[in-house]
Amino acid sequence: MATKRRKSAAAAAALDMQLGEVEYPREQEIALSIAAVIEDFVRRRDAEGPLRRDVHPKAHGCLKAKFRINADLPASLHTDIFQPAAVYDAWVRYSNSAPEPADDHRRDARGMAIKLLGPDGERIRADADYPLAQDFILINHPVFFINDPADYLTFMRRTLSASLVDKALIPLALGVRGSAIVLATAAKPLLPLARTRFWSTVPYTWGKGAKRQAIKYSVRLLDDAAAIPPLGDGADALRDGLREILDKRAIVLDFAVQQRASHAHSIEDVMTEWPEDEMPFQSVARLTIPRQRFDTSARDARGEAMAFNPWHCSPSHRPLGAINRLRLTIYERIAALRRAGGKKRRRSRRPE
Ligand code: HEM
Repeated sequence: MATKRRKSAAAAAALDMQLGEVEYPREQEIALSIAAVIEDFVRRRDAEGPLRRDVHPKAHGCLKAKFRINADLPASLHTDIFQPAAVYDAWVRYSNSAPEPADDHRRDARGMAIKLLGPDGERIRADADYPLAQDFILINHPVFFINDPADYLTFMRRTLSASLVDKALIPLALGVRGSAIVLATAAKPLLPLARTRFWSTVPYTWGKGAKRQAIKYSVRLLDDAAAIPPLGDGADALRDGLREILDKRAIVLDFAVQQRASHAHSIEDVMTEWPEDEMPFQSVARLTIPRQRFDTSARDARGEAMAFNPWHCSPSHRPLGAINRLRLTIYERIAALRRAGGKKRRRSRRPE
């Protein structure tokens, strides 16, 4: 079945030095400090209601989907999950990144999380509700804005602080390059989610044993972009846009991987894009979001209760790099906090 024995965080994230992982000083201690900063923020922000995700709390929709592996997938890309012509049920959750939900027309990064309900087999961390889940988590930019765990801790302390002085010091934690990436991510023109391209930004393993390699993944529209209606002016334009399409027809997306050409492209530097002209993305699966009614309180509640985590994965799709190693500790803790806080508070509310 899904998991054998749960490994400690240190064992699960043991470095893959052959693929180029390098340890930063005090990683685990920093991960715990970041989790504590986030927990403190979530409890303060949501003192009056159910505890929500610290980032990406505003969802545009939790959507049923089908994930079909390409029938002609080359043998070099076969894994336990990626078998030619395999078809899996999946869930997709689209979100805005900002910790405080806002009008979609405000500058922000967009998130896309995919939970593929995969075949029987080992998972590094099993999702409590969907034990065979293989998660993929993406944003609408090809690179992440920080490499160093200690800088990330400073960034989070300042971002989630109530003090304006701390907030003014955020660019110092990010540096010139990190600040430019944050601005570039948030400054993209707002597009319908179906037309938005998403990237993993950080690398993952593909395969096991001597044949394993490092990849990044990306999702983009397969249909004709011109057939996607433009967005309206409303505060929830992204949800409205999804509803307009999914009332009538499916959205068909391509899931592609970029194989690292050589060790010259760093695992630990997630602020530098792997150039697509040298390492083109190759289609491996089709993600179809069928026509559906998703705009219901029951569906929203399902999306709220879900926990996406890059470590909900088969060992053949193990997350790589320091940023991913931090996420091993942090995502579980925040999801557990939400689960406990959400239930306690929901029980104490009067029935609607
Ligand atoms: C050290 C780095 C990072 C930290 C500490 C972090 C932290 C978190 C946390 C705590 C959550 C909420 C988890 C939950 O309550 O279920 C979350 C969600 C999310 N993160 Fe990250 N994150 C990091 C890096 C990234 C990266 C590199 C990406 C790029 C793809 C990313 C994309 C997302 C998305 C899209 C969600 C929302 C998932 C959903 O729909 O539930 N994060 N992050």
